Amino acid sequence: MPHPVSRRGVLAGGLATLAVPAPPSSAGPAGETLGALATAKGLTLGASFAVHETDGPHGERYAALYAREVRSLTSELELKLSVLRPDPDTIAFAPADRLFAFAERQRLAVRGHTLVWNDDVPEWFKALSRREAGYMMDAHIETVLGRYQGRAAAWDVVNEPIAPWDNQPGNLRAGPFLTAYGEDYIARAFRLARTLEPRAKLVLNEAFTETDDARGATFRASLLALLRRLADRGAPIDAVGLQCHLSSRHRYDLPRFTAFVEEIATLGYDIHLTELDCDDGAFPRDIARRDAAVARLYADFLGAVLSIRAVTSLTFWQLADTTSWLYYRDLAERPRAADRPRPLPFDGTFARKPAWTAIADAIRAMPPR
Ligand code: XIL
Repeated sequence: MPHPVSRRGVLAGGLATLAVPAPPSSAGPAGETLGALATAKGLTLGASFAVHETDGPHGERYAALYAREVRSLTSELELKLSVLRPDPDTIAFAPADRLFAFAERQRLAVRGHTLVWNDDVPEWFKALSRREAGYMMDAHIETVLGRYQGRAAAWDVVNEPIAPWDNQPGNLRAGPFLTAYGEDYIARAFRLARTLEPRAKLVLNEAFTETDDARGATFRASLLALLRRLADRGAPIDAVGLQCHLSSRHRYDLPRFTAFVEEIATLGYDIHLTELDCDDGAFPRDIARRDAAVARLYADFLGAVLSIRAVTSLTFWQLADTTSWLYYRDLAERPRAADRPRPLPFDGTFARKPAWTAIADAIRAMPPR
């Protein structure tokens, strides 16, 4: 049977009118979804969404999974500078337009990811002079927020400002935006975003703060110090995003991590967990044991972090194993079917895994927001 979503139809916005089929039987009792459980507690639950996945053979079921299970979508690729601006003369809005249309059709909120990120810059942009790069940063924020004004509930305005290995003052990540404006690029981006988006939650998003090791400690200390400097300067930041790409290869000291999250809350920010998943590469090979280990890490992590009421938003990085960035990334090292990564609450058939139950239980047990 030919796939019902033709390429032309999708490019013309056909997905927006795509009928979403009934949930598969694995959905369980009506209303029993992670999104519904979270909403009942006042927590926004979402997942990253890649609009090109809806063009694949699993496209309809992928769309149905999101429509059923979550309340919010984060654009995984569509709003990134490297995707939107492949060359100086092009602004490729079509994928982001399709994502917004799908979200609005399904009444899902959007988290816009991301406006300013020193690590995701196309080659032509790297060749700009300091002045040009500064001008382009401002113009990019104005162009993107201008086009989608009022349609996203949250924007990751600045992504991953910290990178100790770049040896910059404040452990800031090097790149054209830091070069253009110094540390002020961050406050400047937020101020500009606020003028165009008075109501959306403006988020500073950071990676690598979770682990119990020297890297985690450096990221936590550098981020807290940066947030204090930004608060002193009155940068209009509503929430701090913590990516939370968990891994079987790392250790976690959850009391230490929750103390860090509480400290962010004390500074007056909400906390969004923005990219939760679990790299299972070092867990047992046996699938049942591996799934159990992934579920346990989710249970421990969420049991601790969701106890903090300032955590108002929880987003997974994709929902199903076979559309995870880890699934695509590890294709070469883990090619055997039984070894493929299983980082998420749904498997490749979009059926619930033990992780789903662990996550649902953690949401049921958390205090309401
Ligand atoms: C990743 C996507 O998942 C990949 O598909 C892409 O190739 C690279 O970017 N931190 C972030 C996200 O803030 O934007 C990254 O997303 C994952 C790490």
